[in-house]
Amino acid sequence: MRVLVLGSGAREHAMVHTIARSPSVDLLYAAPGNPGMAGEAELLDLDLADLEGLADAAAEHAIDLTVVGPEAPLAAGIGDVFAGRGLLLFGPLAAAAELEASKVFAKEFCFRHGIPTAAAEIVRSLENAERAARKFGFPVVLKADGLAAGKGVLIVNTESELAVALDELFVARRFGAAADRVLVEECLEGTEVSFMVVSDGTRTESFATSHDYKRVGDGDTGPNTGGMGSHSPAFALDDALREEILETVIGPTVAGMAAEGREYRGILYAGLMLTADGPKVLEFNCRLGDPETQSVLRRFDGDLAAVFADASRGRLEPGCMGWKDDVAACVVVAAENYPASPRLGDEISGVDEAEALPGVVVFHAGTRKDGDRLVASGGRILSVTAIAGTLADATDLAYRGAGRIAIRGAHMRSDIGADTLGKIGKGNG
Ligand code: AMP
Ligand code: GLY
Repeated sequence: MRVLVLGSGAREHAMVHTIARSPSVDLLYAAPGNPGMAGEAELLDLDLADLEGLADAAAEHAIDLTVVGPEAPLAAGIGDVFAGRGLLLFGPLAAAAELEASKVFAKEFCFRHGIPTAAAEIVRSLENAERAARKFGFPVVLKADGLAAGKGVLIVNTESELAVALDELFVARRFGAAADRVLVEECLEGTEVSFMVVSDGTRTESFATSHDYKRVGDGDTGPNTGGMGSHSPAFALDDALREEILETVIGPTVAGMAAEGREYRGILYAGLMLTADGPKVLEFNCRLGDPETQSVLRRFDGDLAAVFADASRGRLEPGCMGWKDDVAACVVVAAENYPASPRLGDEISGVDEAEALPGVVVFHAGTRKDGDRLVASGGRILSVTAIAGTLADATDLAYRGAGRIAIRGAHMRSDIGADTLGKIGKGNG
């Protein structure tokens, strides 16, 4: 197969790294890609917002399978454009990608199909949002309906935070039309896990479980980010819980989407809170998680391109994804002042030295070439990943790798995996 991967982040670099090792792949392209992918794929300078241009390029390069990394092209209908031109693409059609693109659609879908999720009210005005927030009591969660680059969720603990949140959503309109409708939602307590499956419209196969670290600071403090690290497996999920999630969330979601004429083919990602009353849906995504994927795919054993092609054709093979017993960890190296206003352009050194450590692979995200130099071009610069026999060894190794990388002002969390180790014990996993 000739395969094209769309995207330019560390998640897509991990996908390229894995697909490059797929026995079924002869030729691999990435667009627009990043310097880290350049050794494993031929980069095409394409605009992910130009769906027709992407289809033209896929036809021109005789691509057999296009794999979409991020959500925006899926929500914009890249699946529909490619299908209309007879081009095979891995990812849901726009009608199915609504599960991520509209939090109101997803919430009402869960209510319609009895899928466990946080109680919520859908509101359109500041007054109704305020009334609903008081009804739920603090803490309460306010969510813009539409895509907001992962920033449209506001967890509100006090009156003054509520005032700020209502202002951002309805007055300053920080999220624009994405906040025309807002979910006011019960705040759930428990352990958060990411559960990802590949779906062919009827059947699903599960990815290894994972846990991601969203807040910028140690101990889960500070603002939410695009993700500061991850590990796989999640450890909080045993076989019984995995079965429960498949039965109560994944199965009914895939069946419900099919029943509503929105057959779901692609990645289905459920962000779940493991509550005292069982797993409940926080969100759905229509693509792989970032930075979960960087950990999860380090453990993949199989032919990822074949899995994606089979799912796209509606004939997923049972047991097509195997997982190494090793534990994987990922530490994100971020630019100074990320997430508020990351400073860009600083030189990056030490990537080769990090990868000289056995078990370490560095995935690029916010990097670009400036002549011979590698420089930072985004807030999350690199994902340093490691695999080892235990979580303690995997995180140690990832931190040793990250320690070899030098970027002026860069920062990372120092506690990826620490909370999990506290629960499972150092010698385990
Ligand atoms: P989302 O984009 O919906 O995943 O929200 C971002 C993050 O906000 C989630 O990963 C959770 O950490 C948190 N969150 C979202 N909804 C809730 C909720 N109902 N209760 C508690 N935390 C939530
Ligand atoms: N790690 C969360 C996400 O990809 O949405």
